[in-house]
Amino acid sequence: MISTLQSRMLRGADGDPAPRLAYGADYNPEQWPRDVWEEDVRLMREAGVTVVSVGIFSWAKIQPGPDTWDFGWLDEVMDLLHAGGIGVDLATATASPPPWLTTAHPEILPVTANGETLWPGARQHWRPTSPVFREHALRLVRTIADRYKDHPALVAWHVSNELGCHNVYDHSDDAARAFRVWLRARYGTLDALNHAWGTAFWSQRYTDWEQILPPRLAASHPNPTQQLDFKRFSSDALKDHLVAEREILKEITPDIPVTTNFMVMGNTKGMNYPDWADEIDFVSNDHYVHPGPQDRDELSFSANLTSGIAAGRPWFLMEHSTSAVNWQPVNVAKRPGELARDALLHVAHGADAVCYFQWRQSAAGAEKYHSAMVPHAGADSDVFRAVAELGATLRTLAPVAGAERETAAVGILYDWDSWWASEQDSHPTSLLDYRQEALDWYSALLALGVRADLVTTRADLSRHQVLIAPVLHVVPAGLAKELTRYAEQGGHLITTYFSGVVDENDHVWLGGYPGALRELLGIRIEEFGPLLAGEDVELDGAGPGTLWTDRITVTDATDTEVLASYRTGVHAGRPAITRRTTGTGSAAYVSTRLGIDGLRSLLPRLLEPAGVSSELPEDARGRVELTVRRGATERFLFLVNRTDETVPVTGLAGDVLVGDDRTDDALVLGPRAVAVLRQAL
Ligand code: GLA
Repeated sequence: MISTLQSRMLRGADGDPAPRLAYGADYNPEQWPRDVWEEDVRLMREAGVTVVSVGIFSWAKIQPGPDTWDFGWLDEVMDLLHAGGIGVDLATATASPPPWLTTAHPEILPVTANGETLWPGARQHWRPTSPVFREHALRLVRTIADRYKDHPALVAWHVSNELGCHNVYDHSDDAARAFRVWLRARYGTLDALNHAWGTAFWSQRYTDWEQILPPRLAASHPNPTQQLDFKRFSSDALKDHLVAEREILKEITPDIPVTTNFMVMGNTKGMNYPDWADEIDFVSNDHYVHPGPQDRDELSFSANLTSGIAAGRPWFLMEHSTSAVNWQPVNVAKRPGELARDALLHVAHGADAVCYFQWRQSAAGAEKYHSAMVPHAGADSDVFRAVAELGATLRTLAPVAGAERETAAVGILYDWDSWWASEQDSHPTSLLDYRQEALDWYSALLALGVRADLVTTRADLSRHQVLIAPVLHVVPAGLAKELTRYAEQGGHLITTYFSGVVDENDHVWLGGYPGALRELLGIRIEEFGPLLAGEDVELDGAGPGTLWTDRITVTDATDTEVLASYRTGVHAGRPAITRRTTGTGSAAYVSTRLGIDGLRSLLPRLLEPAGVSSELPEDARGRVELTVRRGATERFLFLVNRTDETVPVTGLAGDVLVGDDRTDDALVLGPRAVAVLRQAL
């Protein structure tokens, strides 16, 4: 992956063989008259732009009718960019079908669970499983690839755009047909499906595949395994579209890397990205800050998780914003320093490219109030000056290109199946928020200055001395074995409430919770004790707790220590947090939601058996985030000031690659500033 990324994207179209970090944006010249294009290229050069994504929403312009094509403008744009030394990440343009297509074929439009059609007028109004859409989309891909296969500006292919952003769940008849095919492949027989879906319940037994539907609006709770499988299927249907486009691109241009932009951010959970990552040559991500108390922790978390999805290899930040977006209830502008800090935080977590949506702020259309590299005010603006300054910083950071994530002692396991299943309906509580629980553990580690890697179940979990698995709800037998081996062989597992409860079919592991992890944890839970909104419980030795409690009995008293007990609530006097020693490692269980402050107090005790603590000097902990990228001969320490104050960081060796010079052995980080130290290996 690195070599493909480096060979094309990082070297760009100007022929300079030196690796570098890519810089750029979505570029939509079709929104502007011809004379603006020349100025665009001039300003791109001034800003240090090396790559732009072109044509993402150009289907209607490229193919104005079923058999008419207009490539003249795009030829010119490609030539102009190439002459300016700027590489093109060329879109396959399939993201938004044109009006002539939806008029001729309204059967490509997605349908909601309620049976409502999503009409044209916005974008991404297509069914992932529509054979008609697929045929038209692939014809477009082939035509574009044939035309530009030898163009020297072409450095990568950008499949569609944010697959699943608006159309991940389609409940149409096409979806029903494809769902049945998917289910046949998964289960083989109806008996197996009936067993997996638990159709003995509520008289749901199927006797013919044709009876099976997507979980459409129903009289009560739809079957939970049907819902879970529909989530898996919907992710796979989009992946299938990605693969279909990729196959054509690889057939025509085997040497051009293919990517598609993921949306690892906020509550975007429809796409199982760890499962998509193998289908592309390099991982790309889009990220937008959602203002709030944990907003920059969330940015760091998402960038870190993207790195986990990319297996620690460099990835491509395909979109973020220079300042405000247009789609939140209130769209807040970034403060001075945040443009660079946000971008560099992605680089700190492995991004080898920093790109924005978009190059020039639109004058018309739904996104005209979304910031861009060149704002409405033009190049004579603080935003453009900050953009150009960041371009210069990224040039300085060229030696970082290709460096991988250096494994941290702590891993946080993030699992799509558990995310999907734990938040389904008819559960002990509807207030459980999988991502928020994981984010709170991450925030608590940031507050302690302890570096952690977000990882997926595809990773080698044994690389981390401590593995935190919040709400690991779905635990198939194989994963239970792996986690048991992990702890026995010296790893320190920490898990939480509602973990280990079901298998891959969403069937409860019987005999007491947390079923699959019961023996490993040395505890048994007879009943869950969810708390009402606003309710909390006091703990001896930690707390307070909200959301959840468990009625815990310690089953392995010899090896299991009670770290905290409930002082109030129905389980008063019983264990709340436990740790069992097993082999050379341990397995801890936290039965309630402690929030950032509670976790921050508890974590030193949980990390202690592994001997893990902060690598930062004491006075920088919590105020500065540290990440490490490791190249062949050197490692890079990124120090990100998380505060609005100046923070001196003492005692870290290395040459200053970015940031103020050292004074009296201290590296001084201004408010929201980022410094990068370089250490020889
Ligand atoms: C997404 C899309 C872009 C644009 C931005 C706005 O990332 O891919 O086309 O709509 O959101 O934030």
